[in-house]
Amino acid sequence: MNISKRLRRMRNKPSLRGMVCETRVTMDDLVQPVFVDDNLKNPRPISSLPGMSAYPIDHLEGHIGDLSERGVKAVMVFGIPSVKDPQASSAFGADGISQRAVERIKETSDMIVMADACLCEYTDHGHCGILKDGRVDEVATLPILGQVAVSLADAGADIIAPSGMMDGAVCKMRESLDDSGHDMVPMMSYAAKFHSALYGPFREAACSAPKSGDRSSYQIDPANRREAILSVDRDIEDGADIIMVKPALSSLDIISACRSMYDRPLAAYQVSGEYAMVMNADAAGILDGRKVMIETLTAIKRAGADIIVSYYSSSYLDSSMEVRI
Ligand code: PBG
Ligand code: ZN
Repeated sequence: MNISKRLRRMRNKPSLRGMVCETRVTMDDLVQPVFVDDNLKNPRPISSLPGMSAYPIDHLEGHIGDLSERGVKAVMVFGIPSVKDPQASSAFGADGISQRAVERIKETSDMIVMADACLCEYTDHGHCGILKDGRVDEVATLPILGQVAVSLADAGADIIAPSGMMDGAVCKMRESLDDSGHDMVPMMSYAAKFHSALYGPFREAACSAPKSGDRSSYQIDPANRREAILSVDRDIEDGADIIMVKPALSSLDIISACRSMYDRPLAAYQVSGEYAMVMNADAAGILDGRKVMIETLTAIKRAGADIIVSYYSSSYLDSSMEVRI
């Protein structure tokens, strides 16, 4: 028996394990999604996302204060308007729900505010762009996305996050931001966004499921790695400051490839379905949700993500103090 290669020596005591720990997720890495709904008087619990609610704007200050106390430093704002139409008219006004939410959070907290910039919450058909002859049409969509980006920057957003997978969106939004004096406002592009069934719970939360068809004509087929890299490449060329891969756990190979290919900051979105699977399994007594969330967040960072958007962000600090894997 040859046991000269004793890898276990460094695993033998908690202190030594801590010393050789290679990957640590900290609150600086994490972003908490926040849903703000103009149709509400009181918070609306999101049944598929245990612990998560959508908030009316008047409850936002309290919610953000609570997140701050839990160590959250950055939020991603998703707005749900009271009126939807085919042109997403409520997406870009100064009085829009996302714009008012961004403004309110910036006025009342030190949070880094990222603003999701897409049309699916604002169109009555639920697609991420404007439809023409039944299909999403870039020519009609891009000018509106430009206005969305500017209106969110006007409201004070620190980072604009285009999430609709429209060709030309990053370019158009960069141009619009620059032309309106927001040349220092960075963009985090959902650059490699796969067409995933893991977004299901989000669509309940954001009331944004497409009424007909699906998003496969603009989001990337999960089978396609090279196409995902092409998409990231293009967004960097078009001016993305941070690139994002999504979903996270089913895209660790893409995250890892992007880490080695690009020197840009890299984000990953641990999406609603990823959180829902784990936390509902926890609620059913099947596994320890806190440990699994810490393990998966660590794996996503180990694969190469610098920034992780996760519904677990607000619980991470507490759990990571209590849980030792
Ligand atoms: C909107 C958007 C979606 C998500 C983030 N921004 C939904 C979608 O593309 O259908 C999904 C996030 C999640 O599932 O947590 N374009
Ligand atoms: Zn969308």
